[in-house]
Amino acid sequence: MNENQAWSCYWQDSHLDSCIARSQQQDQQLLMNLWQQFVKNSSPNEHLLDLATGNGSVIHAIHNERQDLNLVGVDYAAISPSTSASEEEIGSVRFMGNTDISALPFKSNSFDYVTSQFGFEYADVKTASKELSRVLKKGGRCQLVIHHPNSEILTSSSKRNDELNWLLEPEGLLVHLTAYIDNNLSADQLDKCGQAYMDKYVGQLTKDVTGQIYQVIGQIISLKEHQGNNELARLTVENLMNRIKAELSRLNQLKAAAMSAENIEELIKLIGLVPESAKMKVLNPFNAPELIFGWLINGRK
Ligand SMILES: C[S@@+](CC[C@H](N)C(=O)[O-])C[C@H]1O[C@@H](n2cnc3c(N)ncnc32)[C@H](O)[C@@H]1O
Repeated sequence: MNENQAWSCYWQDSHLDSCIARSQQQDQQLLMNLWQQFVKNSSPNEHLLDLATGNGSVIHAIHNERQDLNLVGVDYAAISPSTSASEEEIGSVRFMGNTDISALPFKSNSFDYVTSQFGFEYADVKTASKELSRVLKKGGRCQLVIHHPNSEILTSSSKRNDELNWLLEPEGLLVHLTAYIDNNLSADQLDKCGQAYMDKYVGQLTKDVTGQIYQVIGQIISLKEHQGNNELARLTVENLMNRIKAELSRLNQLKAAAMSAENIEELIKLIGLVPESAKMKVLNPFNAPELIFGWLINGRK
């Protein structure tokens, strides 16, 4: 599974957001305010481009505030934005999947605003910066929210990454589950393996990951033991494994995407923001180092 497929798989599941560490209203509100403030003084019919838009959370936040702007969201994955937006929201809004932000299909100087939320930094930053700069009008404004290496999102993702990897290791639950479906392990033995796994990682397993996996394992056992449907049980395990691999790919991409302060300074130069207008700051709304949210870059070309 390549990086693009890992995201396509995610967006086809109708998610609207990604990278909101606690998936909490506070985080969503913080982002929503940032985007709505950004376009507060824009003029009707101006054009805004959101890079690596996913299922369009930035576009939706802006559209909620301003329906008189032309909004375009692009992403290289096979996105599915309409499933997470109400039909009437699609008016002056255009989404384009299968579009690499390192090769944008737009004329130079065509946008008044360019935005990105935890997306731009996943691409080849040098090429994507050139493209951003090319399509942004002179005097146009850009705002990016970028992953910070010490953010809460990175810390929680790293723990999730460990837990998902444990499931796939040779003595991990999913290997035993496959053996059970192939009749190489009895239900009793599978149960013992499950117990051993819990003992090995006691205190480190979460409801969110292992809890959900146990639920699926319960369904698989029921398919095999009560319904005798081995084929569906096998497909369910395959599907589970693919989803875990896709998430591991996304988590690795996230880790690689995080940018240091030096990277951010370099990025501002690459985009060509007017130095006096360019601002970079660490978003840390709770003033707690362990709750850093990310970088905010804002400026004029
Ligand atoms: C963490 S998600 C963020 C999505 C969205 N901005 C949001 O906040 O929900 C990162 C996105 O970057 C996209 N992406 C990564 N590399 C890309 C590239 N070269 N061109 C376009 N999109 C890219 C992925 O497909 C994914 O949708």
